[in-house]
Amino acid sequence: MKHEKIEKNINLMMVLIVVAISIGGLIEIIPLMLSSDATEPYEGITPYPALQLAGRDIYVREGCYVCHSQQIRPFRSETERYGPYSVAGEFVYDRPFQFGSKRTGPDLARVGKRYSDDWHRIHMVNPRDVVPESNMPGYPWLATAEVDGDLMSRKLRALQILGDPYTDEEVAGAAAAVAGKTELDALVAYLQNLGTVRSAR
Ligand code: HEC
Repeated sequence: MKHEKIEKNINLMMVLIVVAISIGGLIEIIPLMLSSDATEPYEGITPYPALQLAGRDIYVREGCYVCHSQQIRPFRSETERYGPYSVAGEFVYDRPFQFGSKRTGPDLARVGKRYSDDWHRIHMVNPRDVVPESNMPGYPWLATAEVDGDLMSRKLRALQILGDPYTDEEVAGAAAAVAGKTELDALVAYLQNLGTVRSAR
């Protein structure tokens, strides 16, 4: 019997397993690579301005993704709580994306404009000042640390080389755009923009 032959020949079985998995994988992956929903920016999405990009890097550095996801799934329980579900085109300028996999705190994909800047400032320094039962840690050092302007212009330049459509003026103006700003200013600017392009529809 042919099947018996395969089961007794481990090398042949391995080759056939690889073939079977590859077919399954390609059928799932290739259509996504060609679908404009997944490869083109969602209408209105632009590369992060320098200040927001600095905030995003702070979000990554501080490990906010350990407790917060940034991905709203297409279920009613999620869309009623957080807003329109996330689509791939919203994340084309996220390197790396911040989908996360754990929600100790709420999803942040559409937190932009939900609170005032002042609320965020108080909340980031000591969450319990605005949400008494919160177990989120405070990040008081962000309020005094300054954003490194020179570093930001180099980061924008690097992203431009990778293909993000920054103009030369934006790259040249990156240091000026973050001059005198604290890390808290940058993080709040980033949070206040999260998800706003799609939720505005
Ligand atoms: C140990 C887990 C934990 C970490 C780490 C953490 N958070 Fe939170 N976060 C929470 C919890 C729990 C809440 C809900 C209570 C509250 O609002 O403080 C929350 C709430 C929030 C909210 C309000 C969301 C809403 O819709 O009400 C924002 C914004 C936020 N966190 C941002 C951040 C940022 C930015 C970082 C990283 C600098 C961070 N969090 C790190 C647990 C965490």
